[in-house]
Amino acid sequence: MKKKQILVVDDDKAIRSSLTLLLEHEGYAVTTAADPAEAIAVVRVSEPALVLLDMNFSRSTRGDEGLILLRQIKIFRPDTPVVLMTAWGSIPLAVEGMKRGASDFISKPWNNLALVELVAALVGSDADESGKSASGFDRSLIVGESRGINKVIDVLRRVSATDASVLIMGENGTGKELVAETIHRNSSRAGKPFVKVNLGGISQSLFESEMFGHRKGAFTDAIADRKGRFEIADGGTIFLDEIGELPLASQVKLLRVLQEHTFEPLGSSNTVKVDVRVVSATNARLSQMVADGTFREDLFYRLNLITVTLPPLRERAEDIDLLARHFSAGRADFTSDALDYLRSLQYPGNIRELKNLVERAILMCGETIDLRGLKRSVEYAPVTQPNLSSSSTVSNNEKKLVQDTLAACMGNISAAAAKLGITRQALYRRIEKYGIKI
Ligand SMILES: Nc1ncnc2c1ncn2[C@@H]1O[C@H](COP(=O)(O)OP(=O)(O)OP(=O)(O)O)[C@@H](O)[C@H]1O
Ligand SMILES: [Mg+2]
Repeated sequence: MKKKQILVVDDDKAIRSSLTLLLEHEGYAVTTAADPAEAIAVVRVSEPALVLLDMNFSRSTRGDEGLILLRQIKIFRPDTPVVLMTAWGSIPLAVEGMKRGASDFISKPWNNLALVELVAALVGSDADESGKSASGFDRSLIVGESRGINKVIDVLRRVSATDASVLIMGENGTGKELVAETIHRNSSRAGKPFVKVNLGGISQSLFESEMFGHRKGAFTDAIADRKGRFEIADGGTIFLDEIGELPLASQVKLLRVLQEHTFEPLGSSNTVKVDVRVVSATNARLSQMVADGTFREDLFYRLNLITVTLPPLRERAEDIDLLARHFSAGRADFTSDALDYLRSLQYPGNIRELKNLVERAILMCGETIDLRGLKRSVEYAPVTQPNLSSSSTVSNNEKKLVQDTLAACMGNISAAAAKLGITRQALYRRIEKYGIKI
């Protein structure tokens, strides 16, 4: 099927290229124009399915030029929807534009998801073609009915079917990994690999061989050919966790594969081509890192066509009941005062912390978790008590929790990681961080 054409008219080059990137990802063909003359030239010879029109050309601050151009486009293409892009505060201009035939308007800086939706609504979405109906969406990994989590699910419902890169942001333990998996499960790539890479756990020197693979003999320890994660993920999704920890030198290398979909394994001159969707996650403020110069801006835009922000548990306390019952399901019940108490606690470690607390409570209380038993479980890891959130306390408690759990599991990393509800890599990092002997 022929792709639908979108014309983007804006005098700002950065805006033209980021809109091109976004809309091409969504499966549209994008044509750009930097000024009215160019725009008219395009609509004369072709029939775009939609025009995105900037109203604020630098030469004219009043926007007359945008309005005049709108009228001209409408003369050539009366049926083509035109969406105006306006700066904040220029609502009257947008309203004037709507009177003159614009279909809608969007304020700068725009929200990518809102823009994609608007475009899809006006030209008809191609995203539905993957065969997944809205009701067939599988959200079973993500427990919760709060407004905050339902908003997240809504976003996932809309972006999963596309190939757009998604950046998941959220504090520790808010469920970023579950979200990444949910996106994959609900995409047309579901039958293909979902490959997780924890970039926090990969040293800079190993990054290249890990991601792109190596040929036998590429370096001293390369005793055999090895496929990299990108090649393993071909056709599927790669989940780049803790993307904020990637050193600048590795960021360049990642950028290249995202832009060109190709790379060369270490020690090889053959170029490998892959088709991989990228979902990444971070608990760092990446935009701040971009401002500080520690994260490349171009990479940030590549990774971040759509952002999903996970609310911390304190902003969705109404989910605590459901989550607690989910984690204890079939093993224990809570008394009602125990549930009240659970709701009164603070969870700097978010859902992971709630999950760990429920695990401890089951160990301590057995089938019925009552207030007394629950309080004892909390004291065992007092980090969940209100007013005890200084970082030193958190790390002291975390260290103790890791030590105790390792001891209880007799040093078995997999068992301890499962008990703590974290990945083995995350456990290794903490063991290293706290200098714990195993
Ligand atoms: N909505 C949810 N429903 C059920 N379980 C959840 C939910 N959110 C998180 N969990 C559970 O909480 C734990 C932490 O989730 P996850 O690993 O996805 O968090 P994260 O945001 O990736 O954390 P980190 O930043 O520490 O890596 C996991 O055991 C996960 O299964
Ligand atoms: Mg995680």
